[in-house]
Amino acid sequence: GRGSGAPRPVADGPAATAFAAGLPLPGADRQLAGFPVATAGPVDLPVAGAGVGWAGEFLDMPPHTIDDVLDINVLATLRLVRLLLPGMVAAGSGRVVLIGSLAGSVAVRDEAVYSAAKAAIGAFADSLRYELRGTGVGVTHVVPGVVDTPFFERRGAPYQRSRPRPVPPERVADAVRAAVDRGRDEVYVPSWLRLPCRVRGAAPGLYRRLAARFG
Ligand SMILES: NC(=O)c1ccc[n+]([C@@H]2O[C@H](COP(=O)([O-])OP(=O)(O)OC[C@H]3O[C@@H](n4cnc5c(N)ncnc54)[C@H](OP(=O)(O)O)[C@@H]3O)[C@@H](O)[C@H]2O)c1
Repeated sequence: GRGSGAPRPVADGPAATAFAAGLPLPGADRQLAGFPVATAGPVDLPVAGAGVGWAGEFLDMPPHTIDDVLDINVLATLRLVRLLLPGMVAAGSGRVVLIGSLAGSVAVRDEAVYSAAKAAIGAFADSLRYELRGTGVGVTHVVPGVVDTPFFERRGAPYQRSRPRPVPPERVADAVRAAVDRGRDEVYVPSWLRLPCRVRGAAPGLYRRLAARFG
């Protein structure tokens, strides 16, 4: 996160230290990638979860917010992985965890740029996984639906649908832990959300008609 100030220990729980960095800023990715290596040793499980949303019609979107959404969700994430991967491949172990979104997997209305950004993360995860076969380094793409966090308040538009119902963030954390333990490539939270993605994959025309009609 952006936060402020010097690295600080995180209370309660396993030994942890927070390092704040405004990610799209020049050099921040390098600082962030270097910090754990300098303080705790090589990184073996980066979880790339920094992200921002923007909701509303694409035609109403101020152009600079397009950059913001892509900068943090896509560019900062890819750059950070680019900096951390060589060490992981050299060690021959570890896992890159990328937090995508259902919006990226099915493309939702009024989130055109966010959907495109998260779709990019999904494609990146799949492509990178092929490349890393045989290196000992895995890639997990996490696809949450709706999570009860300040995300919606921060993007300036509350979550208004009744379904999918928001899940607590701990549920995503548990899913990440389980996916890492089991070496899974893709995980949906909650898991039933893989269904609409499968329908869209198998019958895109039908999915588009249903989505246009029922939102
Ligand atoms: N909430 C949902 O329904 C939902 C659903 C699907 C996917 N996701 C994804 O889940 C991830 C976590 O989101 P969340 O729900 O936990 O939202 P959140 O509470 O708004 O958290 C967003 C996180 O991203 C960090 N961040 C944002 N802009 C940053 C920047 N410029 N530089 C560095 N860090 C930055 C924030 O750090 P600071 O707090 O320091 O700003 C915070 O840690 C995101 O990738 C989001 O797209 C969320």
